[in-house]
Amino acid sequence: MGMSGLSEHGEGGLERGAVDLQRYGHALMGTFGVPMRVLTRGEGSYVWDADGNRYLDLLGGIAVNALGHGHPAWVEAIASQAATLAHASNFFATEPQIALAERLLDLAQAPTGSRVFFANSGTEANEAAIKMARKTGKGTIIALEGGFHGRSTGALALTYKEAYRAPFAPSSVTWCSCLSTMSRRWPMRWRPMRRTFRRSSSSRSRVRRA
Ligand SMILES: Cc1ncc(COP(=O)(O)O)c(C=O)c1O
Repeated sequence: MGMSGLSEHGEGGLERGAVDLQRYGHALMGTFGVPMRVLTRGEGSYVWDADGNRYLDLLGGIAVNALGHGHPAWVEAIASQAATLAHASNFFATEPQIALAERLLDLAQAPTGSRVFFANSGTEANEAAIKMARKTGKGTIIALEGGFHGRSTGALALTYKEAYRAPFAPSSVTWCSCLSTMSRRWPMRWRPMRRTFRRSSSSRSRVRRA
């Protein structure tokens, strides 16, 4: 029995997947419209939908699930890390992070001096590429006709399709000082937090030991 609490057929005789997609339409923003199917599980190269149909997964999460679904070694690696240490921010390094970067440099046979930048998504990787191009002082970025680069605003600025790009073109930003407002208005119980904010820019590298 799934999360909707329906066993075989839902309201009005609809199949489980159709019921879930109705719920999707009510609960999630329609950025891509309502999806075609609800997938419930995967195994290797196959996925199953909410109505029990099996499919050969030729999409792979749009070319990101190169290892397929549920491989025991992959599951073990994720479960073991989750049980050991969760997200650590970029204030701290972790050993698996360093080992993976070294392995990638090795596999890519990257020239001496190369470095890895980890990103959470394709769009963030493209943002990093845009920033790196800017940082080297290059004024022009070349993007392919028909290309899509992700949903963040920098990546959208390179996206060919006007309907995706135009509504999110850069607009002007007004900066207002949050800390000067806080210094006048923060209640006593928040004052230690305010001191931390002020210190963090000058002493980021200092880490307090427990
Ligand atoms: C060609 C291409 N670049 C970038 C992206 C963005 O990737 P992500 O969804 O991981 O941000 C996509 C996503 O569909 C894509 O197809």
